[in-house]
Amino acid sequence: MKRRIISLGWGARKEGRNIWTRNAVKGVSVRKERRKRDGRNEWRLWDPTKSKIAASLLRTKLDPARIIPQPGNDCLYLGSSTGGTVSHIHDCVCGSRNHHRGKIIAIDISSRMMRELVKLSEIRPGIVPVLADARDIAQISPFVNKKVDWMHQDLSISDQAKTFVKTAEIFLKNEGIGLLSLKAASERAVDGSLEIQYEKAEDILKKSNLDIIEKIDLKGLEEQHVLFYCKMK
Ligand SMILES: C[S@@+](CC[C@H](N)C(=O)[O-])C[C@H]1O[C@@H](n2cnc3c(N)ncnc32)[C@H](O)[C@@H]1O
Repeated sequence: MKRRIISLGWGARKEGRNIWTRNAVKGVSVRKERRKRDGRNEWRLWDPTKSKIAASLLRTKLDPARIIPQPGNDCLYLGSSTGGTVSHIHDCVCGSRNHHRGKIIAIDISSRMMRELVKLSEIRPGIVPVLADARDIAQISPFVNKKVDWMHQDLSISDQAKTFVKTAEIFLKNEGIGLLSLKAASERAVDGSLEIQYEKAEDILKKSNLDIIEKIDLKGLEEQHVLFYCKMK
């Protein structure tokens, strides 16, 4: 039986429990993910156990299409690693040869990750790889020349919520979407149970210029993670 296809905007769709993005570089997988043809287009499977954004698209109780950025958006991605999730965001924001003229400024502190990210950016124009410490505004601001429409932070560090608020308040547009993937285990052990750590992060967000639209529990896909889906006031 054919599964019903639900469009999540340009370049992304949901079929049953699978999320696919329209491959901007036909014939090439980024993390050995499955690809399939549909007429002139090729789609890549987005693994929700390897991407907190894909997991949140399956777990949100709201419209998943609102979580991903739009074609042509300016995006800031903190903690890009080798670019697995960044590549799917690129499918949606830039498309083939960046015909949408989108931009993803992708930051990572690890030179090993950055080597892979640079290779990815060479075949996916629109990705701007930046080797920097995302906690240090002075290191990233030279690469962000205007406020962004969409931002995601996925850093395995302590003080994740504080870093997110500080960065969003500087770089995210009014009404811009800010996503914080929070890994409880990365916070200091003395800071208590998972729930207490989530509550502490939530308090920090509530005192900021961001509105929390939804707190998405990623249990079963990304253990010990929640994703805070926020909007700049
Ligand atoms: C969980 S991984 C990110 C996975 C990635 N978002 C994905 O979905 O494919 C966390 C990344 O944050 C990076 N990182 C940790 N501390 C950082 C910092 N202070 N500044 C920038 N990147 C950092 C690590 O090098 C690692 O690649």
